[in-house]
Amino acid sequence: MAHPTIKIAPSILSADFARLGQQVVEAAEAGADYLHVDVMDGHFVPALTFGPLVIAAIRPLVRIPLDVHLMITAPERYLKEFADAGADILTVHVEATGHLHRTLETIHALGKRAGAAVNPGTPLAALEEALHQLDLVNIGTVDPGFAGQPFIQAMLPKIARMRRLLDEGGYGAELEIDGGANVQTAPPAVAAGARVLVAGSAIFNQHGSVADNLHRLRDSLSGFSPGSQ
Ligand code: DX5
Ligand code: ZN
Repeated sequence: MAHPTIKIAPSILSADFARLGQQVVEAAEAGADYLHVDVMDGHFVPALTFGPLVIAAIRPLVRIPLDVHLMITAPERYLKEFADAGADILTVHVEATGHLHRTLETIHALGKRAGAAVNPGTPLAALEEALHQLDLVNIGTVDPGFAGQPFIQAMLPKIARMRRLLDEGGYGAELEIDGGANVQTAPPAVAAGARVLVAGSAIFNQHGSVADNLHRLRDSLSGFSPGSQ
């Protein structure tokens, strides 16, 4: 049986934008735990995607939490807009904000769950002092900016180190991995300690329905015990 404690967060970056509403409903009905929304500003990452208006448009369509990944420079400028639009989790990059502590406090003051993300090249030390403030840690398993990139295998020990930091410190933050998750890469990531799997191209693609793809990803976790609790 697939492990029930692992959450799957389909990333709408890979969805068919002409049918976005239908696709997010399909994902929620298929049992997605979160909906991952990749916001890119053409500055922190090269690509441009969507902003609060798209979040506001999909918010009424699903009940599951909107997990908003802000790949934007100085995200503190836009937290209120994203909160008002209906984000439930607001994740900022440690590389993109000069005042991580204050930024996370602002997210909580807005009544939202606070996440921090680290790029593959950023050491975990960059968020160690913020662990007590975090509801979610996003470990980049690809360099952010695009869907469909290969999972960076060298991130597995980093996931395991983060798992240990959280467990040994008694922190409650969820450990999310982001990028390149599929039926091959998800099981070892879960074994290393991941608890939330973001998946874009593995869920929204031409090869199968959203529901089939999501079930296949969940089934791939059967028999894999999650890394240390
Ligand atoms: C990458 C984004 C990811 C992306 C994942 O910059 O943060 O959330 O959508 O897409 P896949 O699963 O295709 O790597
Ligand atoms: Zn993301």
